Amino acid sequence: RSTATPSSVRPAAHFTARSTWLNDPNGLLYHEGVYHLFFQNNPSGDTWGNMSWGHATSTDLVSWQEQAVAIPATAEEMVFSGSAVVDTRNTAGFAGPGQTALVAIYTSARPPLDGAPGIQAQALAFSLDAGNTWTRYEGNPVLDIGSTEFRDPKVFWYGGDNGHWVMVAVDAVDRRVVFYTSPNLIDWTLGSRFGPCHAVGGVWECPDLFPLPIKGTQETRWVLIVSLNPGAIAGGSGTQYFVGDFDGTTFIPTRITESTDPADYDWLDYGRDYYAAVSFNNVPDDRRLMIGWASNWDYANETPTGPWRSAMSLVREIELVRTAGDRLRIAQSPILPPEQSPLHVFDLTVPCTPGARTTLVLTGDDSGVERLTITIDGGERSITCDRTQSGAVDFHPAFPSVDWAPLPDQNTEEIDLLIVVDAHIVEIYAGKGLVTLAEQVFPTAPFTRLHRETIHGQK
Ligand code: FRU
Repeated sequence: RSTATPSSVRPAAHFTARSTWLNDPNGLLYHEGVYHLFFQNNPSGDTWGNMSWGHATSTDLVSWQEQAVAIPATAEEMVFSGSAVVDTRNTAGFAGPGQTALVAIYTSARPPLDGAPGIQAQALAFSLDAGNTWTRYEGNPVLDIGSTEFRDPKVFWYGGDNGHWVMVAVDAVDRRVVFYTSPNLIDWTLGSRFGPCHAVGGVWECPDLFPLPIKGTQETRWVLIVSLNPGAIAGGSGTQYFVGDFDGTTFIPTRITESTDPADYDWLDYGRDYYAAVSFNNVPDDRRLMIGWASNWDYANETPTGPWRSAMSLVREIELVRTAGDRLRIAQSPILPPEQSPLHVFDLTVPCTPGARTTLVLTGDDSGVERLTITIDGGERSITCDRTQSGAVDFHPAFPSVDWAPLPDQNTEEIDLLIVVDAHIVEIYAGKGLVTLAEQVFPTAPFTRLHRETIHGQK
């Protein structure tokens, strides 16, 4: 049994709520110089419940200020995950002269009543003061199909002046992404469905869809993000993606010739702690920025922090690249705070030829009893991350884990690694961020040192 005392060191650049619970990032939006991060929040507790949209803002993506709760739960509904848009064309008619409406599209989760099952339907709230205060739309819900498992709408504008709104949501238990279109955010028409495919060992949640240029080309592809719980690569909840095309109503994954399976899909992160990741709407210069929830439903309600519980990941900028093996893959790089921040960032290169095996050990003191061990094995072409000795691990039997990731698909003899440690969260970016692992750790003394050893065997 571990004798470690739970860490209560608060991360600096990973957003945490002051004294309450959070899960999924919601309504990620850039508007008039401010990045808005709404989030699944229990405003009166440190475990899941009373789900509301909390709110935080930032101008630099690394320091966040928590704001008043944006959309609180009521006796009739919990406010589940969703997105937010700037209704520049006032399509919903919420804005008066000279005003611009920000519109949140969330899942209204109604509890079971009088023997009838709970209903999940999509609803709107709007803000006419740049996101400070929110009003529920009186015509809610706007999209109710009578389902108990229909949630997590991500909405964006498709096309120019003659375009339309697209909503990507999930039939969670059927493991399907559903695509709806609307001229005004209020009236929605079903366009198409996608799935089930690839990883289906749990429910599908929190989808996202956006275009990305293929780096170094004039071509663009669409990326469909789908979270899955449980059944992810590292166990429990995790995020996968598919690459393909989108024509405004239908997503068509790239296929290997003659095959019906999608060709270009992968895990967005191979660690235990990267879930419900979605991207910001409206970011200038076509940058695509994402945030994930840095925890896992396997043990999220029991992680030893306080008075808050759970954190967001760093903001990750993503690109689409063609790999050495002719696959389209997402490459991620974290937005980091300036040099003098309390984060520990290790930037190194290790060999990945068949005989080479490098062990990296993160520790907080000389004894090294508590550690996170990362192994890069050129023969196995793997990265493993062992947190079984990382401090407090026995608060939940599913927490201690050894997680696996493939080496990135690159024809190189060396691989670059960026390891970011921010209090109880470690994010590993390998091969220019083609492979990432996010892991929580709860050492007695925060990890600040990295020891390294490479063995060159004969294979
Ligand atoms: C994902 C999720 C969403 C849901 C929200 C509720 O973590 O289960 O599907 O909207 O959390 O808090």
